[in-house]
Amino acid sequence: MEDRIVTAHLMMEDQTVEYSLRPRYLAEYIGQTQVKENLKIYIEAAKLRREPLDHVLLYGPPGLGKTTLSNIIANELGVNIRTTSGPAIERPGDLAAILTNLQENDVLFIDEIHRLHRTVEEVLYPAMEDFALDFIIGKGPSARSVRLDLPKFTLIGATTRAGLLSAPLRDRFGVVSRLEFYTEDELAYIVSRNAELFGVGVVGEASREIARRSRGTPRIANRLLKRVRDHAQVNGDGIITDDIAHGALERIQVDPMGLDSVDHKMLRSMIQNYRGGPVGLDTIAASIGEESQTIEDVYEPYLMQIGFLQRTPRGRVVTPSAYRHLGLPVPEYNG
Ligand code: ADE
Repeated sequence: MEDRIVTAHLMMEDQTVEYSLRPRYLAEYIGQTQVKENLKIYIEAAKLRREPLDHVLLYGPPGLGKTTLSNIIANELGVNIRTTSGPAIERPGDLAAILTNLQENDVLFIDEIHRLHRTVEEVLYPAMEDFALDFIIGKGPSARSVRLDLPKFTLIGATTRAGLLSAPLRDRFGVVSRLEFYTEDELAYIVSRNAELFGVGVVGEASREIARRSRGTPRIANRLLKRVRDHAQVNGDGIITDDIAHGALERIQVDPMGLDSVDHKMLRSMIQNYRGGPVGLDTIAASIGEESQTIEDVYEPYLMQIGFLQRTPRGRVVTPSAYRHLGLPVPEYNG
């Protein structure tokens, strides 16, 4: 498992922080304006009708607040939330047990829903559509199907890989919302809010400095904030000033675009050894001592998103903006 400070994946150290900082109401949740406005209306309508909210699918990159938003939805609806994840539900019976224990209009949150086993997924179809479980009782000619009614509920599914969901599952969600990366303004606001909740002062442009290096991702912003706070307490008087933030982030080795030393190593290796590409994934992997899969899943997506890396049929290519960011002369294109 990766342990980079700029990973968007949930780390052990994030959990208590995220829990204590987590906004509880839509009004406290910063960013994702479109998604929030729509949800607000659907939640109000469901409450007026005293019905469960339609099933909701939240998808998008890790660290953007899918779990947080699910907890807010349940809180705003005034119902309980039961949280589980795709891989945690091993057998159809596990899901049946969860479903029969829900109360009317409760939220069932399934994280990483794209990793549900097929056999489990099939139990979910009638549950989502008719709030019912179907059983087969007996064997052979005397076998018969029995239907058990469930309490009405709202399924909230979260996934980083909406493309991996089967069509029948995807079609059963009434609300499908994509979470987007946050702007620098939004992240700076989140950093200020969370610093206040931490009881640490942030002055000047410090929250923006942290925001800029957070890859559009609140989880990363919160993690950087925590580290910078440590520096402020040890090297300063506990207040995060511009200088403290800047110095701490340099020492943590997260650059102004949010790149860490592994990103730098990969780009430099491609430039120095392969003239910036095109170079194959496996070759890059071997030259920096990483697994190809890790590069593809972990390092590449952000570099491609900010336009520092391109995928071509002949391999990966470093773009001119990456050269400029690294302070290297952009080579003439020589095919
Ligand atoms: N902390 C993490 N994500 C947040 C968000 N979207 N709004 C407010 N606080 C947050």
